[in-house]
Amino acid sequence: TFVVTENCIKCKYTDCVEVCPVDCFYEGPNFLVIHPDECIDCALCEPECPAEAIFSEDELPEGQRQFIELNAELAEVWPNIAEQKDPPEDAKEWDGKPNKIELLER
Ligand code: SF4
Ligand code: F3S
Repeated sequence: TFVVTENCIKCKYTDCVEVCPVDCFYEGPNFLVIHPDECIDCALCEPECPAEAIFSEDELPEGQRQFIELNAELAEVWPNIAEQKDPPEDAKEWDGKPNKIELLER
């Protein structure tokens, strides 16, 4: 399965949802996640993310493994998102910032 990782937080560009053939993205206030049981591993979303926040669970960068669990948990409670929307106005400023996990809103 594919996993949305920390750099999506406060960037949330949503280019990813536009290409997903099974609409398995779920959206929270400042982050979104992939439902691990619905993702068909097509890999289409990975290159679409301007923040490079999407990875295969087998290729997660150092320190991002906690996002496997977080995607699974939040996909059960957040609503589905299937269409792209405007990112936050300050998305660019947050791209690449460390420790954004502390800013995750649920
Ligand atoms: Fe959707 Fe494919 Fe990305 Fe899985 S890998 S979330 S099915 S676009
Ligand atoms: Fe997040 Fe990238 Fe999608 S920033 S909303 S994973 S396009």
